[in-house]
Amino acid sequence: VKTAILISGRGSNMVALLEAARAPGFPAEIALVLANKADAGGLALAAAAGVPTAVVESRPFGRDRAAHEAAVQAVLEAHGIRLVCLAGYMRLLTPFLVGRWAGRMLNIHPSLLPAFPGLDTHARALAAGVRLHGCTVHWVTEEMDAGPILAQAAVPVLPGDTEAALAARVLAQEHRIYPEALRVAAGGAAAHPDHSAALTNPLP
Ligand code: GRF
Repeated sequence: VKTAILISGRGSNMVALLEAARAPGFPAEIALVLANKADAGGLALAAAAGVPTAVVESRPFGRDRAAHEAAVQAVLEAHGIRLVCLAGYMRLLTPFLVGRWAGRMLNIHPSLLPAFPGLDTHARALAAGVRLHGCTVHWVTEEMDAGPILAQAAVPVLPGDTEAALAARVLAQEHRIYPEALRVAAGGAAAHPDHSAALTNPLP
């Protein structure tokens, strides 16, 4: 399954996906890494791994999210992409892109959803005093960080934890569960409950 990874930053989850996808028989082929920022660190890592990259800067579009998404959509279509993984893509999506990719778009979020959607999840987990924190891979729907859950991993919050220490503990689990979730989704072993045929249907 031709898969694109969308990033905005360092791309450590992207690297984990690229490495997993190299395994023989892995059902997803990472055919494109697309960033909405030209200075996203992950772009160089993708290029070094021999993966095609594209930049569709969001800044020039300002508040016109729909126009930016149309440009992103055109690049995805040009590359024949059938599945999209958001990996640190720091851009809220509109119903345009979400609708186009219903059942064919995954996201990784650094909390045990439905707890702590949105930003600053590790600081908020520490402030709330939760004893368990973690990460979630979910299908992307219109509501942010709220789609059907594909995979989760929990980590303990330890006494004296800093935000950085907790983030690192969670990130190690992100790098484990995102490739696994992609394998399951691309292989057809798990589907969005409302769009179960999305990956096998022709592109809309
Ligand atoms: C990860 O923690 C991811 O869960 C969140 O943003 C971070 C991206 O990190 N959405 P990276 O770019 O994959 O290293």
